[in-house]
Amino acid sequence: MERIWVFDTTLRDGEQVPGAKLTGPEKLEIARQLAVLGVDVIEAGFPASSPGDFAAVQTIAREVRGVGITALARAVKADIDAVWEAVREAEQPQIHIVLGVSDIHLKGKFQRSRAEILEMGVAAVRYAKRLTPWVQYSTEDAGRADLAYLTETVRAVIDAGATVVNIPDTTGFCDPQEFGRIIHTIKNEVPNIDRAILSVHCHNDLGMATANTLAAIKNGARRIEVTINGLGERAGNTALEEVVMALKVKPEFYGVETHIRTEEIARTSRLVSTMTGIWVQPNKAIVGANAFAHSSGIHQDGVLKDRQTYEIIDPRSVGITESRMVLTARSGRHAVRARIAELGQPIDDATFEQMYQQFLDLADRKKEVYDEDLLALLSQDEHPQHDQAYELVAYEVTVGSDRHPRARVTLRLPDQREMTAEAAGSGPVDAAYSAMDQIIGEKARLLEFSMQSVTEGIDAQARVSIRLDSDAGLCIGRGVDSDVVLAGIKAYLDAWNRWAARQRQEARKWA
Ligand code: KIV
Ligand code: ZN
Repeated sequence: MERIWVFDTTLRDGEQVPGAKLTGPEKLEIARQLAVLGVDVIEAGFPASSPGDFAAVQTIAREVRGVGITALARAVKADIDAVWEAVREAEQPQIHIVLGVSDIHLKGKFQRSRAEILEMGVAAVRYAKRLTPWVQYSTEDAGRADLAYLTETVRAVIDAGATVVNIPDTTGFCDPQEFGRIIHTIKNEVPNIDRAILSVHCHNDLGMATANTLAAIKNGARRIEVTINGLGERAGNTALEEVVMALKVKPEFYGVETHIRTEEIARTSRLVSTMTGIWVQPNKAIVGANAFAHSSGIHQDGVLKDRQTYEIIDPRSVGITESRMVLTARSGRHAVRARIAELGQPIDDATFEQMYQQFLDLADRKKEVYDEDLLALLSQDEHPQHDQAYELVAYEVTVGSDRHPRARVTLRLPDQREMTAEAAGSGPVDAAYSAMDQIIGEKARLLEFSMQSVTEGIDAQARVSIRLDSDAGLCIGRGVDSDVVLAGIKAYLDAWNRWAARQRQEARKWA
């Protein structure tokens, strides 16, 4: 079968999601997992955007092996130089240049003619080609461009040395037939197209990113730009897991294959969700919590008799293991460790010891501990300790039908001092947040607060996700606990700790 090359842009387009900004170590951890997943190219960032992003791309290029590393540049010398400096030590360094191709972009963004933009694109490719043999050119907003000008651009940049031409549906405007036709025209009418890999990059504004990417493959595209969990600008990008599994489920129809290790999909999805703080919607294809859950009696009966009645994918093929073992406070270290290993989560001795104490604490409060609970405990441990600028020492809330909710919170500050504050609020969480604001000394607006239960049952753990808007920008935070107020407090501290880590990283880069 012909090969489809997978280009992952979770760390560039995915990171453009408001509030999902990652620290350098977080980006490196995700990049390592993307390499394990088997992607062919990682787009690690946009080096010209900030010194922090430059350093993150450079570290990934130095440390992540066995995969191509690229980063984004506008069609200007300074951006291209920044990309090259950042990626040059990678095993396979690549430069990705983007420039508009639709009249809307040419007039609105550049106020230049088609001929001028074409000249600028060709010059950028020629310049990049002096630095590395692998140069990708993206025709931004190709989905709304004049097709004749688009094909002329593709031909010219290939002549200039582009080895990959990427056709983005930047605004998610196309439908599968339209997008398929664009790719078909390029494949069949650009005379030198065989000298480059034809790639596509779709956005999901009309919910058609996956369908458009598959239509492009059917029409000759051989490289796909995707993100984990479909993260990305606005409604997001094409989800890696959806296209990869569609190709795997229907090999006769598509006749192509990727080299993705599909059993790593669930783990990668969880890692990205934890690091970015963005939950996966429960009904999300392939990686949503309900993607393999059968709730109606008729469906359950069918699946019990024969899984294939209602299941087109074996959950184990994407790394989802079934919850077969329930752990309790009497489960020893050996049983817990064995279950973690079965869940495919690597864990070192020190982290396990810490996590085992958390497990015992949880098992005391919640008699039965399920796989989802273990994964929630593990995901908290995935945050590096040095990111914990603020730590919770103690809290107390008072609520009742005849009194105003009040909270008293004690935090440990970055300089190890402990500080306590008290506040009233419209509810216990609001009161606790006001108390913490007094201690942290920063003000933020709570834009979003959502809570889900990790498992079923009255003693289930609560998973809280929040979004804060502060002077320093948007920040996301997450917290899990069987005490809903504590889960909310943990989410708030997580947001401030992410914010503090980001401040520290920026300060280091400018020092
Ligand atoms: O959506 C887009 O056009 C992009 C390009 C940089 C490929 O993200
Ligand atoms: Zn994009």
